[in-house]
Amino acid sequence: MAEKSTNVPRPPRGPRGRGVEKPKDAVGTFKRLLVYFKDYIVPIAIGLICVAISSLANVASNYFLKPIINEAIIPFIGHENPDLTRLIQILLTMLAIYIAGTVATYFQRRLLGDMAAKVQEKIRTNVFDHMQTLPLKYYDTHSTGDMMSRFTNDIGTLRMMLSQSMPQLLSSVITFVGVFITMLFLSWKLMLIVIVMLIIMTLALRVITKHSVSYFIKQQRVTGEVNGYIQEMIDGQKVIKVFNHEDTAIHDFDGLNDELNRCASNAQFLGGIMWPLTGNLAYLQYAIISVVGAGMVISGTMDVGTIGSFLQYSRTVTQPLNMITQQASTILNALAGAERIFALLDADPEVDEGTITLVNVKYGPNGELLETEERTDIWGWKETLEDGSTSIRLLKGDVRFDHVTFAYEEGHPVLNDISLYAKPGQKIAFVGSTGAGKTTITNLINRFYDVQEGTITYDGFDVKKIKKDDLRHSLAMVLQDTHLFTGTVMDNIRYGRLDATDDECIAAAKLANADFFISHLPQGYQTMITGDGENLSQGQRQLLAIARAAVADPPVLILDEATSSIDTRTERLIELGMDGLMKGRTVFVIAHRLSTVRNSNAIMVLEHGKIIERGDHDSLIADKGRYYQLYTGMFELS
Ligand SMILES: Nc1ncnc2c1ncn2[C@@H]1O[C@H](COP(=O)(O)OP(=O)(O)OP(=O)(O)O)[C@@H](O)[C@H]1O
Ligand SMILES: [Mg+2]
Repeated sequence: MAEKSTNVPRPPRGPRGRGVEKPKDAVGTFKRLLVYFKDYIVPIAIGLICVAISSLANVASNYFLKPIINEAIIPFIGHENPDLTRLIQILLTMLAIYIAGTVATYFQRRLLGDMAAKVQEKIRTNVFDHMQTLPLKYYDTHSTGDMMSRFTNDIGTLRMMLSQSMPQLLSSVITFVGVFITMLFLSWKLMLIVIVMLIIMTLALRVITKHSVSYFIKQQRVTGEVNGYIQEMIDGQKVIKVFNHEDTAIHDFDGLNDELNRCASNAQFLGGIMWPLTGNLAYLQYAIISVVGAGMVISGTMDVGTIGSFLQYSRTVTQPLNMITQQASTILNALAGAERIFALLDADPEVDEGTITLVNVKYGPNGELLETEERTDIWGWKETLEDGSTSIRLLKGDVRFDHVTFAYEEGHPVLNDISLYAKPGQKIAFVGSTGAGKTTITNLINRFYDVQEGTITYDGFDVKKIKKDDLRHSLAMVLQDTHLFTGTVMDNIRYGRLDATDDECIAAAKLANADFFISHLPQGYQTMITGDGENLSQGQRQLLAIARAAVADPPVLILDEATSSIDTRTERLIELGMDGLMKGRTVFVIAHRLSTVRNSNAIMVLEHGKIIERGDHDSLIADKGRYYQLYTGMFELS
């Protein structure tokens, strides 16, 4: 497509846009796949035996023309009462072979199909389970579309390979070898003609394929682009309409569509002449064999049955060869997909070297802390010491950053030498312009990412020493971009703590000030939320996210306020919701509205990953620095 200047971004190349792919290490990948077969060795073995039986039955069926002509027809030509015993004998044998072939085909499909479906399920489970263990960094560097295509395209192609391509390849090889040997056995002289013709056909096909393959690859790539473009345009419909880019989108799509049309018709044309060409060559071969064979029959060096049977075989000998090339390329493609699946499975999971765990505690008779199974709402950190004994320290919510430096990508530090502390029950606010690193700080506390320099301690423990699950259990986060799952409002609140009762969820919603709007929804708490909360407003989604954090009832809370503008009434509701939630906890709050931060114990002003000012509201105003500018210059911080 000619380059056009356009404001609509280029669609990314879809996963199918890579053209015909070759695996880097086909043998190694296949060996790795074998692991998945080990539970199905018996059905696979029976399935493969069935493949062999049905292929051989197929080969054998053509042979019977020879005894039928030679033994059941020719001896009785002109007889008044021909003896049909031999004919019936042969026909019954043929019937038996056909039945055996059909039964074998049925079991082959059934057994191998089942095996492929089970292997597919197992791989899908493995991939999904592994995805849950991957660090966020993996998601940062791999697009959703790419990961989705592991689940859809790659695993699907793999199943096709196991259930269809592999058995067909084997069947084609057996058929070809069987047919070849039988033909040699029938007449090696006529076979010479077939071999020469096969060589000519292969050469002719190679010439055409060389040209058509490039068009097919291009066609596949452009198809990927067209699909990617359509997907992006569907996803981005709102933005397209906002900026009136409908015409540009149509124009660009036309360009891509034209290109696809061009590649497709060229590919079709070359693909189209392939069959007539091989077809004609096959007829030519048939004619030559007929003439030569007839000559041989007349001269008495061959019987009629043999030439009949041979001609029959000569028509089918090329079929398995075509099949083999076709299936081989499908298999290579599937192995390339399997390689990508394995690459995902090989991606390093999130490391968790933490040993300190979170436990429920209660006070013993002498005021000492005792671990308990019951939910006491008092939490403790349980540390196993070197001598095997355990000690329990009360969870207070004291968080400190000590000279922390962090970069998402090496060489581009986002946080520089950050030091701060939050004492239990304190409210620490972060303010600063967009991209300053506020969200990043909170991502480090719960170890979404690990610091490169410095340490973060939680109640005196380095966060790296705390088991990740337990660390995250002790903190609740209201993320900047709220995400809701498909389910009822109640389910979404309960996501904060799965064993919370309905009453606890409702209490949490009341605390978060979400109860009011929920009770006005058509089905109240049972209202279904679809597609990430599309049926709710931005503010309502946030209130639900706060309720979700409230139900978790954590000692430490991180609130990353969304930047979206919401009406002042909802804003006030959210503020009240947050205030309700903050009481008695250590809170990190990232606020874009100064009204939210004003009553914090300490306010950190961040700029380019550095804390440039700190203090409470009054002292920062008195300093007349950046905070003062932000506060007096504009109401909104970003
Ligand atoms: N996952 C990521 N990978 C690489 N860089 C990132 C990632 N997330 C954030 N950044 C970069 O880190 C910097 C700080 O981002 P951060 O999200 O902490 O900003 P913020 O202060 O929360 O901004 P906002 O007020 O807009 O929420 C930005 O320059 C951003 O481009
Ligand atoms: Mg942010």
